[in-house]
Amino acid sequence: MRLPDRLGKLNQEVQQLSRNNWQELEQKLFLRTGNRVPVTLVRGQGALAWDDQGREYLDFVGGWAVNSLGHCPPVVVEALEKQAKTLIQASNQFYTIPQIELAQLLIGYSCLDKVFFCNSGAEANEGAIKLARRYGKLRLNGAYEVITSQSSFHGRTLAMTAATGQSKFQEPYIPLPEGFINVEYNNVEAVKRATSEQTCAVILEPVQGEGGVNIPDDDYLKKVQSWCREKGILFILDEIQTGIGRTGTLFAYEQYGVEPDIMTLAKGLGSGVPIGALLAREHVSLFSPGEHGSTFGGNPLVCAAAYAALKYIIDNDIPGQVKRVGNYFMTKLESLKRQFDFITEVRGRGLLVALEFNQEIAEKLVLACVGRGLLVNKVKPNALRFMPPLIITEKEVDRAIGILGEVLGKNAKY
Ligand SMILES: Cc1ncc(COP(=O)(O)O)c(C=O)c1O
Repeated sequence: MRLPDRLGKLNQEVQQLSRNNWQELEQKLFLRTGNRVPVTLVRGQGALAWDDQGREYLDFVGGWAVNSLGHCPPVVVEALEKQAKTLIQASNQFYTIPQIELAQLLIGYSCLDKVFFCNSGAEANEGAIKLARRYGKLRLNGAYEVITSQSSFHGRTLAMTAATGQSKFQEPYIPLPEGFINVEYNNVEAVKRATSEQTCAVILEPVQGEGGVNIPDDDYLKKVQSWCREKGILFILDEIQTGIGRTGTLFAYEQYGVEPDIMTLAKGLGSGVPIGALLAREHVSLFSPGEHGSTFGGNPLVCAAAYAALKYIIDNDIPGQVKRVGNYFMTKLESLKRQFDFITEVRGRGLLVALEFNQEIAEKLVLACVGRGLLVNKVKPNALRFMPPLIITEKEVDRAIGILGEVLGKNAKY
């Protein structure tokens, strides 16, 4: 009886809120974990999305670098429809075909040999750290420490909060799980200094996404990989944001001449459906039955969608398109930089791009862009990040640049 009473009371309260005011309702019902932009999205197609008032937006947030093929891509919709009528969920006690097909594709196109599927980026990274610890226990005399980098982001679980090198995420939860050492990014000497008998792995993002789109020196990853190989420790790449074409190659590691021992994926892998994956080289694949698992991981529905998306991305050389359109976008942003002296930097790889300012104006700019029909992300108080779908066209880039130009022009007048 308790629940229906509560529901009745809630319904009464909700009726008092203005009709269809989803944002007020959200305020009432949700834990406050973040601040949302005041837009209620109800529909999307390609690079466009519409809100509950019918307003159209050009979407340069892309579900946080998730919607690789844009909103509701036909290949993914078709795969979902077909799989939903066939088999949605089966436990990993059994074999299911979509996950095996997806595994074949991922392994065939990467330097890794084995895969484990899960549901999110944080979960993929948790699995990667657990695998590194198994490696440490079995091959490195019990070494368990993992070196991570400052301004990195690896997810929101407790262990990934410890791995993430940003104190603002860590402070509310101290004490954190031990075994992570944060060192300066893009500094191989810092990695060397932090390495000890206890070290089993180094985990890095090839380009730091949440930390502000930070691009390392061309030889940084190569030097860290050499160090790892010299010391016999694992070189792990978190490609959750950079993977699946985002930076202009299927995996960002291809551009840096390295091959990780473990790689994690999520975000763009499912082009909108929630899926994560951890891939490992043969000699590192040391889990024994029962040592790791996931109820939904490798679910047939999401795997069928991810397979369809990934196959489309590979067959149509979408990474090549990303490189071309990404360069075009950066060139246009550079011309805005020449126009507005408060822009301090344009940086990015492929379609993971940031625009930095000498003032903390990102929030104001996000709202101003929304007002003109462009969705963008504030990655730092003084920087915007752009993660449009990988299929964005030059024409759509021009439209976004037009809006940004107007918004920046207004800012310049203050
Ligand atoms: C590099 C990287 N790793 C891990 C994560 C966490 O992924 P998820 O939010 O799916 O847990 C993110 C999310 O932004 C990320 O960018």
